[in-house]
Amino acid sequence: MIGIDLVSTGRAIPGNIITNDDLSKIVDTNDEWITSRTGIRQRNFCKEEKNWNLAYEAASKAIEKAGIAKEEIGLLIVATFTPDYQTPSVSCVLQEKLGLPSGIVAFDINAACSGFLYGLKVAASLIEGQDKPYALVIGSEQISTRLDMTDRNTCVLFGDGAGAAIIKKNDNKKFVGILGSEGNVEALGCEGHGSDKPYVYMDGKKVFKFAVQNITKVAKQVLEEADLTVNDIDYVVCHQANERIIRSVQKFLDIPEEKLYINIYNYGNTSAASIPIVLDEMNEKGLLKARAKVLCVGFGAGFTWGGVLLEV
Ligand code: UT7
Repeated sequence: MIGIDLVSTGRAIPGNIITNDDLSKIVDTNDEWITSRTGIRQRNFCKEEKNWNLAYEAASKAIEKAGIAKEEIGLLIVATFTPDYQTPSVSCVLQEKLGLPSGIVAFDINAACSGFLYGLKVAASLIEGQDKPYALVIGSEQISTRLDMTDRNTCVLFGDGAGAAIIKKNDNKKFVGILGSEGNVEALGCEGHGSDKPYVYMDGKKVFKFAVQNITKVAKQVLEEADLTVNDIDYVVCHQANERIIRSVQKFLDIPEEKLYINIYNYGNTSAASIPIVLDEMNEKGLLKARAKVLCVGFGAGFTWGGVLLEV
């Protein structure tokens, strides 16, 4: 598969900050438990915004930074498990709101927290045969509407947000990305509104164990396929679900502290949005210099997992 360039990024974080102390007034929890077990200090919940509003803001910023015309975008993929409508997709809503031309390819992907990585690989495979040079890949989530705010096991973990990336095909590069899925329904999920289990349910310990094992494994597989070691990588970006999961992966892969970017402290777990939000923060700080190699790894409900090597 031919490679891609990461052209630009954008993010959207809704304004309603919810601190751990705020949550301690709703459920039997406290700041000390949440920070020590997860690293999370605060998260953001939507007020009036819908999922597509977040995706719109993140996408608009990425398009503006890329300095491209909307007519040059031929592919739009939104990764989400919290769409506004059963159908049409967030992508099609966004296509209309952004004014992207008729005839482009637009659809959503649900691979839960691995969704953005799934989106990158699908985009890389579709972009090859497309006449327009750019693709827009977004992770966007409004998880607050799927949380049981009486369940301290889950409601403290998640946040809302969106991250977007504009990518372009590059014939001189090779795309390295590995995806997988296990077929597990009971450990982590959300049946959605109108069902018996409308809110996120989770067996935290099972998810934790799965995450550490599989992120480590897929990271090694990606490095092997790219014929690289951690020494050749500039940054490792993990799905931001729990700082302890990320630290375990860091230990197993022997990743130096300066190569790891963690921002779960401020956002909680934003599922498919977490990796592109990290990328946008890194971009803003000037960390994604030309030719930088970024190894992105994640896992999610399903269980799904993915690892993608991005070369800026
Ligand atoms: O994108 C994927 C989404 N999910 C994840 O990545 C989650 C992965 N799992 C985890 O991050 C961790 O398993 C958790 C953070 C969810 C839980 O951490 P843990 O160290 O596995 O805690 P635990 O489940 O063993 O719970 C320990 C105690 C329990 O009390 P008892 O039974 O020992 O009396 C829980 O009831 O902590 C209690 N507890 C809480 N206490 C205060 C659970 N949630 C809370 C809370 N505040 N919010």
